[in-house]
Amino acid sequence: MDSLMLISLLMLQYLCISLFSIQVAATNGKLFREYIGAESKNVTFSDVPVNPNVEFHFILSFAIDYTTSSTSPSPTNGHFNVFWDSNTLTPSQVSAIKARHSNVKVALSLGGDSVSNRNVYFQPTSVTSWIQNAVSSITKIIKEYNLDGIDIDYEHFSSDPNAFTECIGRLIVILKQNRVISFASIAPYDDDPVQSHYLALWRKYGNFIDYVNFQFYAYDKGTNVSQFLRFFEIQRSNYRGGKVLVSFGTDGSGGLSPKNGFFTACSRLKSQGKLHGIFVWSADDSKGTGFGFEKQSQALLASPK
Ligand SMILES: *[C@@H]1O[C@H](CO)[C@@H](O)[C@H](O)[C@H]1NC(C)=O
Ligand SMILES: *[C@@H]1O[C@H](CO)[C@@H](O)[C@H](O)[C@H]1NC(C)=O
Repeated sequence: MDSLMLISLLMLQYLCISLFSIQVAATNGKLFREYIGAESKNVTFSDVPVNPNVEFHFILSFAIDYTTSSTSPSPTNGHFNVFWDSNTLTPSQVSAIKARHSNVKVALSLGGDSVSNRNVYFQPTSVTSWIQNAVSSITKIIKEYNLDGIDIDYEHFSSDPNAFTECIGRLIVILKQNRVISFASIAPYDDDPVQSHYLALWRKYGNFIDYVNFQFYAYDKGTNVSQFLRFFEIQRSNYRGGKVLVSFGTDGSGGLSPKNGFFTACSRLKSQGKLHGIFVWSADDSKGTGFGFEKQSQALLASPK
């Protein structure tokens, strides 16, 4: 082959690589996620419609490092227990839903807002002991239930951002290294001290965090499309380089509701290549409603445009 031809081939290759990089930079995702099990409503996985053309994550809510005493649950320094609705969300139900839908994965979420009407606090005795206890108790639950990932949802803190960063960051790294989980997400919202803790974690361990389940439903009720898009840009720059997912609640909480234009905002983001995925709080609250907004979310993610 002569050198001119070689040069043209190299140029062609370079052009292809550049085009490929551009496509990767602006790419939408097809990830749909829904929290399930935080309220005792006997919701089951099979209640929730699954579109075969999305990537679907159920997120069990919650595993908490508290004792399971029904009168006064107290912190256990990283020894996690199952607090989700375990009447219906059992290990065999996890296996059944994953066998029925090859696009379904199941994660568990750590922490949550409250248990028995009291706030759940992130309260490690020490960083090292918390991590040790968390790795062993979470690994045990994940193996028992055949789960795929974790979500971090602490909302109250008895620790500084640095202890939170080291405990959670190292927990995620160890669980990934041990191949116990294949993905991890965090679920912050726009309030302090929530953001200061999660932003500190993001700065140091963001490379190990696959998705940011930003709780857009924690904004005021009656949020409109333009406000929502502004909030999205703010959080996209806070969690720079991350896959910030958009969200709404079916529990009557705040943010931009489907009837106020949530899907209009999603289409806008999709046209800009910024829609990585949608998540919903929660299947328990949607039970009995026909899951119309879940269907609409998945159809929007699955559609080519
Ligand atoms: C959930 O199931 C349990 C056990 O079958 C039953 O005792 C309880 O009443 C059910 N709760 C609801 C809200 O349906
Ligand atoms: C959205 O809400 C903001 C704040 O209330 C208001 O200033 C703005 O006009 C609203 N935008 C639309 C399109 O209604």
